[in-house]
Amino acid sequence: MKIGVFDSGVGGLSVANAIEKALPEHIVLFKNDVEHMPYGVRTPEQILGLVTPILQELVDEGCQAIVVACNTVSTTLIKKLRELFSVPLIAIEPMIKPAAALTQAGKIIVCATPTTLASARYAELKASYAPGIVVIEPDCSDWALMIQDEQINETKVAEDIQSGLKEGADVIVLACTHYHWIEEQIRELAAGRAQVLQPESPIIAELKRVLVRLQ
Ligand code: DGL
Repeated sequence: MKIGVFDSGVGGLSVANAIEKALPEHIVLFKNDVEHMPYGVRTPEQILGLVTPILQELVDEGCQAIVVACNTVSTTLIKKLRELFSVPLIAIEPMIKPAAALTQAGKIIVCATPTTLASARYAELKASYAPGIVVIEPDCSDWALMIQDEQINETKVAEDIQSGLKEGADVIVLACTHYHWIEEQIRELAAGRAQVLQPESPIIAELKRVLVRLQ
């Protein structure tokens, strides 16, 4: 079966690689939109206009399921996109629920783009799963581009993470797929203090459930 994976840039590539490794019997088609990234500083309306033709290309090329490997797109547009497309769309969203279940301190750090943090879906996730949990949201607005361009300012990333750790957070959620590429660095910064969550394993599990239904 052909599985489409979409992101604005290299974030989705990390997810596509993980899917290919876990499901070698399927074909993974990855598309991105590097020309227009970062999406995380764009409005949902702008993003919709960019994403729709690319998802259509994946459908036209025979994908029977598509992983929207972009928290920014999923949190702002997944309902709309599901109205437009009949293939199953698997959404990557911030892992607020598992983070809230894991934290002992009652404090978590969520690293995400400005558009994700401003979305109604993100507010809904926090209200549903993390009432009473302190959610620290460092300013990661420049992270996706610096990861895309391989110009990572390690000092800036360390400062952004350390300030949340100093407040006592014990779980860090990577809620932008670009940040998967600096997961090791963040794990090292957090070692012994905080767990780091990113969604590749649960997304692969969900994709497997969807593929079973399609077979
Ligand atoms: N990788 C995307 C995400 O998961 C966003 C990157 C961007 O800002 O374009 O949110």
